Amino acid sequence: MLISEFAKSQKLDFSNKDEIKAFNQIFSNILGFEFKDLITKWDYELSKKQMKLFSKKWKVFKNGKPLAYITKSSYFYNTEISVNKNVLIPRLETEYLVSQSLEFAQKNFLDSELILADICTGSGAIGVSFLSDWEKVLVFSSDISQKAIKVARKNFSRFDKDNFIIERGNFLNPLIKSGLKANILTINPPYIDQEDQNVDPKTFKNEPHLALFAKNKGMHFYEEFFKYWEQVINFEKPFFVIMEFGFDQKEKIESLAKENLGNYNWKIQADYFNNWRYLIIS
Ligand SMILES: C[S@@+](CC[C@H](N)C(=O)[O-])C[C@H]1O[C@@H](n2cnc3c(N)ncnc32)[C@H](O)[C@@H]1O
Repeated sequence: MLISEFAKSQKLDFSNKDEIKAFNQIFSNILGFEFKDLITKWDYELSKKQMKLFSKKWKVFKNGKPLAYITKSSYFYNTEISVNKNVLIPRLETEYLVSQSLEFAQKNFLDSELILADICTGSGAIGVSFLSDWEKVLVFSSDISQKAIKVARKNFSRFDKDNFIIERGNFLNPLIKSGLKANILTINPPYIDQEDQNVDPKTFKNEPHLALFAKNKGMHFYEEFFKYWEQVINFEKPFFVIMEFGFDQKEKIESLAKENLGNYNWKIQADYFNNWRYLIIS
């Protein structure tokens, strides 16, 4: 059966963008086509095995599993990232950490090598995207989850080994231990209050809670950050720190920043949807 005939036989709702996206991504994944090329392959003859596999994955999708966990991949910033249930699916708002870091690198490190440290790296999406666009960099990535580290290693494997270091450990500890001083520090830590009842049910059910929730009403990692961040930055050159936080945490972050950042130049920045989302120190 041709893909076009199969699509009709499945009674897909072509007015539903999510269904079309899922149909395309699951098929590209099964057939090994680039997602963008599938549209030109509607006359491809499917085998029985491929149709059966599609039906199985489609059922899982209709039962509410995030598409990225079904296809085991997600698109982030400029690149495709492997994911599985042990890592957070990288979010659109996190792309800002990459774009701003690249902008900083453009302005300040055109002629010299830089070190970017990405803490709480998960799939490694931030470091991998940066490295895809910037050659003269050593990326240091760390996470506490061994299973996440495995995914990050897979994602970094496309680069030369000299360009990255991946370590397992608690928050800033691996970076402190390494003795490296970062020019750019990116952190998207877990920041949801453990008591929060409003977490999207699909996220709550499917994504790793280690990646989502943090103690002290979600503030644990910011409190830790302010204690130790000065140990991991190279203050001899321009530096850039960008950290993501929850859309309702602006006041708390601001008050911690005022308490701890003294004469440093810092600001709170909104995301593409006008939610306050990032603490930037430079
Ligand atoms: C919100 S996810 C961010 C993942 C990735 N950086 C991204 O933006 O898609 C937070 C990550 O922090 C990790 N994590 C949780 N507790 C940690 C800790 N104590 N030390 C280091 N990493 C931790 C989780 O395993 C998870 O991968």
